[in-house]
Amino acid sequence: MIKTGLWFICCAAVLGLAQAGKHDVYSSYSVHAVLPRDSSELALLQQLEQALELDVWQYGAPDREALLMVAPQHRQQLLSALDDHGLQHYLHTENVAKALEKHDEDIATWRSSREQRMIFRDYMRYDEIDAYMEGIVRQYPDLVTVVNAGKSFEGRDIKYLKISTTQFKDPSKPIYFMNAMLHAREWVTTPVTLYSVFRLVENVRTEDMDLINDVDWIILPLANPDGYEFSHTDTRLWRKTRSVNLDVHQTCFGVDGNRNFDVSFNTTGVNQNPCSLTYPGTQAFSEPETQYIRDILRNPEYAERIQLFMDIHSHGNYVLYAYGNHSLPSNAADLHQVAAAMGATMDAMKRPEAGFYKIGNSATVLYGTSGSAQDYGQKSGVPFSYTLELPGYGHGFLVPPQFMDHINEETWQGIAVTARLARSYYRARYSAATTAAPAQS
Ligand SMILES: *[C@@H]1O[C@H](CO)[C@@H](O)[C@H](O)[C@H]1NC(C)=O
Ligand SMILES: *[C@@H]1O[C@H](CO)[C@@H](O)[C@H](O)[C@H]1NC(C)=O
Repeated sequence: MIKTGLWFICCAAVLGLAQAGKHDVYSSYSVHAVLPRDSSELALLQQLEQALELDVWQYGAPDREALLMVAPQHRQQLLSALDDHGLQHYLHTENVAKALEKHDEDIATWRSSREQRMIFRDYMRYDEIDAYMEGIVRQYPDLVTVVNAGKSFEGRDIKYLKISTTQFKDPSKPIYFMNAMLHAREWVTTPVTLYSVFRLVENVRTEDMDLINDVDWIILPLANPDGYEFSHTDTRLWRKTRSVNLDVHQTCFGVDGNRNFDVSFNTTGVNQNPCSLTYPGTQAFSEPETQYIRDILRNPEYAERIQLFMDIHSHGNYVLYAYGNHSLPSNAADLHQVAAAMGATMDAMKRPEAGFYKIGNSATVLYGTSGSAQDYGQKSGVPFSYTLELPGYGHGFLVPPQFMDHINEETWQGIAVTARLARSYYRARYSAATTAAPAQS
């Protein structure tokens, strides 16, 4: 007994030390909250972002504070610039390394307080998620299939689930395509997809039978597994893929997956510096990870029926639609209506510390972008293509695990509303197309 106890104390302490050094790359990095009052102040923040290599955790709006992470060597310049222009600001996180250690502790405490780890109630690793996906297919072979889309840059299989009561053979059903973790550090996004699988397969409630009977689902929980694993093992705030291109840079790797799609590629909201967080890559679809999403959207077996594409990100409480260059698609009013229904549903359940969802064109509500998954989905003909930004509750990317149940449930309700609306729009389109076909008498 005594020996066991000593062993425990010894090794917990050693583990604690190992953890303590893990986030050293962020020591003395700080996060500052800024409240921009108008568009000229927002423009100033964008200039500072480029000039001072800020990592923008959250973009601001006149009623929403921006969260800016800055390296120690640029901190004074940032604070002086904010003061010179009379912007209100305060210190949000003094030492990011310490905040990351606290986040690790929160997760460890959370785990030790649970009897059993649940796939959608924890920040699981690639292997665990992969095993879960393979397991659910074995358990529900009539309902779920797994497709291996191909390998990531580092050679991990990127897989998606197909969920259908009719083996994807019924043309009268729309397809709902859900994607998560294109950005590696946005850890709460994958659990939302896995919880959706739970609600569609393992725990279908009577009131949700229509969702599984009337809709086919494609769910890709881990779009960027290399970046995700790297954010666990090395750099928690890693965003990009992990591709290496020595012709481009000797030490800065990876591409912003959400700037790498072939739509207005390399025009706005990108940074040419390969070390930047928004580096779009040497060409559209340079990354295998974005190619697989393209291949789903363009697959002739699905393309006609993908009625809604939801690319899930974190954080900020937004439902956004095309285009990142400010132009609106021709069905913008419908896009807005479905997004607003989703936002209203989630707002009705929101925790007090979360902001209300903001709905709208991504460039108008947030900032200009090019090469995004959302825009590519829209351009490829998906009627309803969205970026969803989940809540961060003031913790940025470091959402404490005790919030996951709430995020999962609230988002699932939003997804359910959009699935039902997508079904209505699809049925109208489908019956118009089938009745218009020449009658075979
Ligand atoms: C992206 O655009 C910049 C500015 O126009 C240009 O210098 C650069 O060569 C472009 N990169 C690619 C990969 O097209
Ligand atoms: C914005 O991008 C979309 C999608 O590529 C395109 O159809 C539209 O013409 C662009 N608008 C402008 C003003 O360039």
